[in-house]
Amino acid sequence: MLTKSKIIVALDSNDLSKIKKLLNKISKKIYGVKVGYEFFYNFNKKGYDFLKKKNLKIFLDLKLHDIPNTVNKGLKALNYLKPDMITVHISGGEKMLKEAKKVSKKTKIIGVSVLTSLENNDLKKFYNIDNSKKLVSKMTKVALKSKIDGIVCSPKEIKIVKKISKKKLKIITPGIRLKNNNISKDDQKRIMQPKEAIKLGANYLVIGRPILNAKDPMKIINLINEEKI
Ligand code: C5P
Repeated sequence: MLTKSKIIVALDSNDLSKIKKLLNKISKKIYGVKVGYEFFYNFNKKGYDFLKKKNLKIFLDLKLHDIPNTVNKGLKALNYLKPDMITVHISGGEKMLKEAKKVSKKTKIIGVSVLTSLENNDLKKFYNIDNSKKLVSKMTKVALKSKIDGIVCSPKEIKIVKKISKKKLKIITPGIRLKNNNISKDDQKRIMQPKEAIKLGANYLVIGRPILNAKDPMKIINLINEEKI
């Protein structure tokens, strides 16, 4: 039984009233919310302030990826939002990550490793590497060297990240699906069930569609919190 929820709900929707209704039901049973492209670009500061007023922890997933100076200035411009965590791509390199880390003492910098939608096939094309664990291992080392606070990876890579980072990085995993068939019908590929990801040591699970599209989101959240699914 979990003492505290590890769920970060990805608010990927263009319907603010639907999100407000959902949050009225589930806010107390989750760790926080993920504000990504869809929420932030649709609702901007107004939507963001609603979440802040609800006292929710905010994982601002804008995945910055540019040259070090541009990322530093971009993050400075976002500082007024005071998110609890903000994401940048680890593939932006060590210098970029260090510049990101300089910006705020309060907001945790979380590095995105290999997107959970990519398969080994894709990695071969882009990086001449045939498996995600190898690439995520390299990225974990860069994240550690840059002294950022956490890493986003697939649950399939939790073990290797834990081994390398020795608890110095918070591990955040999207790619969560409720069925144990190892096949996702949508864009997520490197997937796992919530209870397995928690058992392996994920600090937080980012979950969108399995909660947003559920008939009874509260039921799903309770089952995840109780490590039953
Ligand atoms: O709906 P679903 O559960 O697939 O949502 C997962 C969320 O996690 C999405 O908002 C996606 O942007 C985010 N994410 C991801 N893979 C990463 C980083 C973030 O799926 N590597």
